[in-house]
Amino acid sequence: MRKPVVLITGASGEIGHGLVTRLAPPGVSIITIDVNPLDASLAPRVTREFTGSITDVGLLDRILAEFEVDRVFHLAALLSTRSEFTPTTAHHVNVEGTLNLLEFAQRQGESHGRPVLFIYPSSIAAYGLPDLDTKTRAGRVSEDQFTHPKTMYGCNKLYCEQLGHYYARYYKQLSADAIARVDFRAVRFPGLISALTLPSGGTSDYAPEMIHAAANGEAYDCFVRPDTTIPFMAMPDGVDALLALASAVRERLTRTAYNLSAFSRSAAAIRDVVVAAFPNASIGYKVDTKRQGIVDSWPADVDDSAARADWGFSPKYDFDRAFQEYLIPTILERYRR
Ligand code: SER
Repeated sequence: MRKPVVLITGASGEIGHGLVTRLAPPGVSIITIDVNPLDASLAPRVTREFTGSITDVGLLDRILAEFEVDRVFHLAALLSTRSEFTPTTAHHVNVEGTLNLLEFAQRQGESHGRPVLFIYPSSIAAYGLPDLDTKTRAGRVSEDQFTHPKTMYGCNKLYCEQLGHYYARYYKQLSADAIARVDFRAVRFPGLISALTLPSGGTSDYAPEMIHAAANGEAYDCFVRPDTTIPFMAMPDGVDALLALASAVRERLTRTAYNLSAFSRSAAAIRDVVVAAFPNASIGYKVDTKRQGIVDSWPADVDDSAARADWGFSPKYDFDRAFQEYLIPTILERYRR
């Protein structure tokens, strides 16, 4: 008999790194797909590592034949800045790749007779506020407001939330003998900050880059203005949120995609706390107009009350704790090694 496994796509990325570590055996068998090989510290934790792309349907077919996947954490994506440089590639990976995975999950569910849980990280990039005045006036934005993304990545994420909803609710419902086999659930992550890894190609990257550069004794030019404000979250809270949503009771979920936030701070406030922790830090500003425009279109804060009410989302790290108890000590340890 095939043993149930968890499939993590994009496992070599920032969230994947945290998720593989948290989910690792003896509890669960994990298989992974990523275009990059897994970090040497993670590879022993997984049952099988597939180096390849989610756009490769042949690869997904081989996995389908060999494994009984009962949960999918679909993390693979090109992030927002990178996607602006290669929009058609971004669409191919972010949308067609997700469609491939949803179809894969549906077929898995049909073969083993139970819905496959499909956890999808959407993003604050799903929003698009028209200008800074509106951003200031809007305050905490709820899931259904301002969903007019300005970036290819944001369009991809918003659309894939809808695709997931379709697979969970309507796909194959027209024929009598086929039912939806995908239990799709999504969060809209704010900027994520990890002490262990650096993102690549995102637009909220100025926060993690600032911290890692300071810890590493490197000068850094922040690519957005000091007043630029969006919500953030420490990576352990991000991983916990995915696991909490995965174990939530389906009947309690009132939405397809949930806002999440832990703290909302300006680039200047983040710089201040980094400089206080690393007094030799050299952090200036060199605004990149395009990236600034992207962050200006994202809300200064989001209303995450639905996630709190429906599945008990409750981040451990507020701004102070994130820095004092997670980021600074963990990063210091990392660069000391
Ligand atoms: N942090 C991501 C990015 O900047 C948003 O999901 O692209």
